[in-house]
Amino acid sequence: MRHIFTRNLLKRYPVITRAEGSYLFDEGDRAILDGCSGAVVVNLGHGHPEVMAALETQARRVTFVHTSLFVTDALAEASEALAGVLPPELGTIYFVNSGSEATETAIKLAHAYWRAAGRPEKHLVVARWDSYHGNTLGALSASGHRARRAPYAELLLPFPHFDAPNLYRRPQGTDPCAYGRERAERLAEALEAVGPERVAVVMVEPVVGSSLAAMPPPEGYLARLAEICRTYDVLLAVDEVMCGAGRTGRWFAFQHAGITPDLVCFGKGVSNGVTPVAGVAAHGRLVEAIRAVGGGFVHGHTFGGNPLGMAVVRAVVEVMVRERLVEAVVPRGQALRERLVGLAEEFSVIGDVRGAGLLLGVELVADPATRRPFAPEANVTGRLSDLLIEEGLALYPCPGIADGRAGDGFIVAPPYTATDEDFDRLADSFRRALKRLVPTLKAG
Ligand SMILES: Cc1ncc(COP(=O)(O)O)c(C=O)c1O
Repeated sequence: MRHIFTRNLLKRYPVITRAEGSYLFDEGDRAILDGCSGAVVVNLGHGHPEVMAALETQARRVTFVHTSLFVTDALAEASEALAGVLPPELGTIYFVNSGSEATETAIKLAHAYWRAAGRPEKHLVVARWDSYHGNTLGALSASGHRARRAPYAELLLPFPHFDAPNLYRRPQGTDPCAYGRERAERLAEALEAVGPERVAVVMVEPVVGSSLAAMPPPEGYLARLAEICRTYDVLLAVDEVMCGAGRTGRWFAFQHAGITPDLVCFGKGVSNGVTPVAGVAAHGRLVEAIRAVGGGFVHGHTFGGNPLGMAVVRAVVEVMVRERLVEAVVPRGQALRERLVGLAEEFSVIGDVRGAGLLLGVELVADPATRRPFAPEANVTGRLSDLLIEEGLALYPCPGIADGRAGDGFIVAPPYTATDEDFDRLADSFRRALKRLVPTLKAG
């Protein structure tokens, strides 16, 4: 183990030796409920037989060709499968290997479109504070996650940011819709400030994942953003790397808002974590503009669209459509939310339970009346995460969710296939961990 360059070199990580359905198993074969599907990835549960069979079958046919020279049936079928669950305008799919590559691809596609349209001066990406679009430098430049940006500040591109809505931390007593309308106008202000003639694309997460622990938008907010983008003639890219692939009860979260974005970034759940797959669905208007000026898109990654990943994507979409899993997400999410709300009633340290579908979040606060967060030095998220794992539960830690530095919370996002018994077990483990944490907070 000593040769692993771990995320934190001082921390000892539990060793996982196998996984099945909603459970991970450690070296002692102790079961840990995967309450966050890895990183909101393993939506169908670990080792889904049909997905694994698709991988094996493809492995015997062809595992690699380079997309600069060839395409494959597997690539065509995965593209068709995803196009089938997207609005018809967004039916052209570009595959890459990670969410960061997907958001960078969306940025480059936006550039390529404006160059094709004869407007190369439109190059800036406008994105939001409290957002995460990936860790590579272009994606991190768009990201508004302050703690992830800080160590690399000098390397980042000067992309303007505007404030995302945070329903939990909105001024007390404000109407959520009025607050959403006010926050949407921040985009118009940002575009006016920078000059919309210089802006290529606006990038947002419809439901904010790790930066705000599953924060849904206020009613009407996304529709207003889309309208502002149209008014100012800038493209709209939605980053659905986390909230897509059915998590919120629609195939993609933007579909709740009744909008048609220009670019949709996806990743994580589309491959169920079997192989790394991500990509971008592009609006036909962009594709046609690029086709009209020679058809070349100067981009590409060696493993993008590789046959193994493509066979997996096709199988994942087939299973989800056939078993109507996206439709099931809403009632399953409701059943899970009830358990989390129950915990919030028991433990005043839980200030908020939120989210959409099976992408839920809890926020922990020092004072629920004022929503005052714990000091970042208290490392409440980190300590609770360790206790949760000791109690047999993995949740996705989200430190810094109050202001980018302070604030503690978790994403709760088990596989779509998790049962009521799994949810009960999740709540029991969470309760035991909180019971151990709370006295230490009082002492501190
Ligand atoms: C919304 C969003 N976009 C982009 C990314 C980056 O994806 P990856 O880690 O696969 O590069 C993530 C990862 O968590 C994400 O949640």
